[in-house]
Amino acid sequence: MTLPRATILGLGAYAPPQVLTNEDLARMVDTSDEWITKRTGIKRRHIAGPDQTTSDLALIAAQQALEAARVRAQDLDLVVVGTATPDMFFPATACLIQDRLGASRAGAFDLLAACSSFVYALICTSQLIAAGAIRTALVVGAETLSRLIDWDDRRTCVLIGDGAGAAVLGPSTGAFGMYGGLVGADGSAGDVLKVPAGGSRMPITVDAIERKLHRAYMDGQAVFKLAVRTIPGLIHKTVAQAGWTMDQVNLIVPHQANLRIIEALASQLDVPLERFVVNIQEYGNTSAASIPLALYEAVQSGRVHEGDRIVLAAFGGGFTYAACAWVWGS
Ligand code: UT7
Repeated sequence: MTLPRATILGLGAYAPPQVLTNEDLARMVDTSDEWITKRTGIKRRHIAGPDQTTSDLALIAAQQALEAARVRAQDLDLVVVGTATPDMFFPATACLIQDRLGASRAGAFDLLAACSSFVYALICTSQLIAAGAIRTALVVGAETLSRLIDWDDRRTCVLIGDGAGAAVLGPSTGAFGMYGGLVGADGSAGDVLKVPAGGSRMPITVDAIERKLHRAYMDGQAVFKLAVRTIPGLIHKTVAQAGWTMDQVNLIVPHQANLRIIEALASQLDVPLERFVVNIQEYGNTSAASIPLALYEAVQSGRVHEGDRIVLAAFGGGFTYAACAWVWGS
């Protein structure tokens, strides 16, 4: 029996309508449009409304992806949501959308690898399809980081945005699909990006809240250095695993954390910046949603053609990282 190769059958994405500009932030904390633009490339970000949860964003992206893939929710075997900001600890956000979609045959679970969650989930799910364990799956990256951030901390609040992106995966009928996928982690660097309180180590108490330990903490420079040190090698390995050379890659979709990180990757890989998808100016860092949002926009704008070789590369809290290589088409 020949085992299938998993491919992306359809994509969806959603960003909430409420926009927060750099000028808006300059009225909230001691910052400026000039500082944020120069240091990060971000101009605007979308923020979930008070009644919108991660599963609400995920559901809209998922419905779009199913429609684009012409797959019925009842035909899904698996729903995976990559998120660090689930609606609740449990039930999993994947279970919430499994119910709302009517994906009654599907198993459902969340996967947490911070900003790398979507790419981790895509790789794991594709391998389940390639192994013949499942046939059709929905993978979502969705976040409402605005709920975790300290809006008085100018070092982090200017960076983040909310959003969701989704992909429906199934067996490829041709030579399309995933050719390489690598995941990695360096747990010893876990302290550079974390939410200290709220788990079993430090349950939420009045003291923890007063010390803002239930909010996201980040050592920005440390994360910056880890990303620039790790991701070029990861991309090289993934491209080699696919059996390609770097100059055969048509498009790289990197995690949208900082334009300067993307520029550093381009320079280290010796790949022109034009071959990278960049939409950070509009959304900021949407964590697990950033890569599916960027890929969706690249496809919608006609930048991706059948047969193109595409690499997705993510990094984030953990420290985690993951990359995968695709021949575009179904
Ligand atoms: O999804 C993955 C997770 N996150 C990341 O990948 C983030 C990676 N790191 C970064 O993107 C950058 O390190 C930041 C954007 C977070 C910071 O940029 P930086 O160039 O590393 O700035 P810095 O932390 O070295 O700070 C430079 C100065 C400091 O002032 P002093 O000490 O030089 O007087 C900061 O206090 O900029 C100050 N600063 C700000 N000023 C205006 C920090 N944040 C702001 C701000 N507005 N929002």
